[in-house]
Amino acid sequence: MEKPVRLAISNQKGGVGKTAIAINIAGALNRQGSDVLFVDLDPQGNATENLGMREAYDEDPPSLFDVLSDAEQRERITDIVREHREMDLIPSNIDMTAIEPELTLSRRSGQQLDLVLEHVEDEYDYVLIDCPPFLGNLMDNALYAAQNTLIPALAETTSKRAFELLYDHIGALETDYGIEIQDCGVIINRIDVRKTQAQEMIAWIEDAFDDTPVWQVRERASIQRALSNGVSLFEEDPNCDQLPMFEDIAAQLADQFQRTEVHV
Ligand SMILES: Nc1ncnc2c1ncn2[C@@H]1O[C@H](COP(=O)(O)OP(=O)(O)OP(=O)(O)O)[C@@H](O)[C@H]1O
Ligand SMILES: [Mg+2]
Repeated sequence: MEKPVRLAISNQKGGVGKTAIAINIAGALNRQGSDVLFVDLDPQGNATENLGMREAYDEDPPSLFDVLSDAEQRERITDIVREHREMDLIPSNIDMTAIEPELTLSRRSGQQLDLVLEHVEDEYDYVLIDCPPFLGNLMDNALYAAQNTLIPALAETTSKRAFELLYDHIGALETDYGIEIQDCGVIINRIDVRKTQAQEMIAWIEDAFDDTPVWQVRERASIQRALSNGVSLFEEDPNCDQLPMFEDIAAQLADQFQRTEVHV
């Protein structure tokens, strides 16, 4: 079987919808017939909690912390996978709050997740990595492992600076590791069409990313609700008008990575 497509859902700016977007893309990929592994790389553990696995966050070792920080324990990643009805989940854990300095000490500080995923990913079509809201070792691990990014951003002027910082960081990582990180798309999220600033920012982003797919997701209560209820929109509200956007993201990813074979 082919190796899965790995995607890092990243933006060091907090609260832009990384977790919500990642869960809904997972839901769309699942509907499309793909098997998804979702990695909650954020020490806050929002996705873990949102997907109803709060107990995993407080569980005793081994956790994601152990497999990332101790080469001898990498294979134990298979012991921590949880099943959700739309995807499998590698949960975050309370210990992850201490991982940053731990990773700095390791010889290949940005490459641990890549090595860990090799032990678990065979049966999946996609691995989605929900990144934490800061530029650090965890983010580097996600970017190095995936070498593909999807970037959620808000339609606000502060997003310009966020893009600048993120691309500077990605550029430095590419140089350090001799890799190329592919931009798979920007998702402008929580759009409120009544705001003129939103319209201006959408135009700015579309212009700045003219070679990259740009999707627009509106502010919707059912997106919020789906997140609190531990499912994607596809389970929460099959009539939501934003569903086609996530279906389109899934379809374009399948097209881009030539994963058109669907095995439902
Ligand atoms: N399109 C949307 N419509 C309505 N609410 C949304 C939408 N997208 C995200 N939200 C809400 O915005 C809040 C922040 O979203 P989310 O947690 O996904 O952001 P994040 O980037 O993952 O945050 P963090 O940086 O803390 O990881 C959540 O309460 C979520 O329900
Ligand atoms: Mg998040």
